[in-house]
Amino acid sequence: ISLKPYNTFGIDVKAKHFVSVSNIEDLKPIVLLQKYANKLILGGGSNMLLTKDFDGLVIHINLKGIEIVSENKDTVIVKANAGENWHEFVLWCIDNDYGGIENLSLIPGNIGTAPIQNIGAYGIELKDIFESCTAISLETNELSIFSKTDCNFGYRNSIFKQHAKGKFIITSVNFKLTKRNHKLSINYGSIASQLESMQITNPSIKDVSKAVIAIRESKLPNPKDIGNSGSFFKNPIIPKNHFDKLIKNFKDLPSYPISDKEVKIPAGWLIEKSGFKGKQFGNYGVHKNQALVLVNYGNAMGSDILNLSKLIQKTIKRLFDISIEAEVNIL
Ligand code: EPU
Repeated sequence: ISLKPYNTFGIDVKAKHFVSVSNIEDLKPIVLLQKYANKLILGGGSNMLLTKDFDGLVIHINLKGIEIVSENKDTVIVKANAGENWHEFVLWCIDNDYGGIENLSLIPGNIGTAPIQNIGAYGIELKDIFESCTAISLETNELSIFSKTDCNFGYRNSIFKQHAKGKFIITSVNFKLTKRNHKLSINYGSIASQLESMQITNPSIKDVSKAVIAIRESKLPNPKDIGNSGSFFKNPIIPKNHFDKLIKNFKDLPSYPISDKEVKIPAGWLIEKSGFKGKQFGNYGVHKNQALVLVNYGNAMGSDILNLSKLIQKTIKRLFDISIEAEVNIL
């Protein structure tokens, strides 16, 4: 079967075996199937670049359902199953006036993959609203609960990218959201100016969501129209003394302080400065509005996009002596 509909890059590779699972009882025996040594777990397929056919079993996680676990007058714990679409869940929360998640509007992907890379945008990360998640072990098929501390969240990072990598399938996530006195986070980037241009002075969580959606739509390509996987690279963190040297040559180099010794640099700026922004190579290239996003304009091969990413990495290493790391999983 072709995996093209299952990855937002729209890469047409084939899987030898494929199963879509809609309940946990069906999932339990499947994870232990010995005859398929090679297993690929697929959620929304929004953070992967497929570069070749897969000679094993693809397990598509299609667990649906949203429920309220508990609530008091201020907060609510909501459980969402792994196969729910992320943005639809955000909209469901906003419709119910549950706050804290609005800045994470319009992020592609599903609930179950969101904790793996601790998705984040516009000043909020998943960890800020995460309560716990349930995951099934691929070794024992037992379910266990991971608290926020267990998950060891960092920038685009969690235990599921560290020593638990490839060992679990997240089946559901519990979120802790506000029911009143919502704490809006509108100081990041252009949210405030976007709200202003929408003539909103006293924003609700719905207004913030709308502002984020407008900003994202203006910069980021919709995977339904142009295949992509959001930011292809992580923003690199470099030593302060390296930054001090660079800023002498590149006066406009943007930076965000991380600590006294480290600064984060937007990879999008480095890619743009290297001349790649908006460059098209046949049916793939670098997006014209956000250089951090690599795009598939048609029937590009995953390997073409991978090679372009390597060329970008090499060029940035040469020009700035900075190594940028892929954020997307490459298979
Ligand atoms: N920039 C450029 N040229 C570009 C893009 C960016 O010069 O083509 C510079 C500008 O200085 C700009 C700065 O980079 O002010 C920051 O750009 P932006 O606000 O677009 O954010 P980003 O750092 O490029 C990160 C996340 C995005 C997230 C935005 C907003 C990562 C790897 N990416 O991008 O996440 O939406 O912040 O919070 O951290 C994703 O992970 O898929 C994703 C889209």
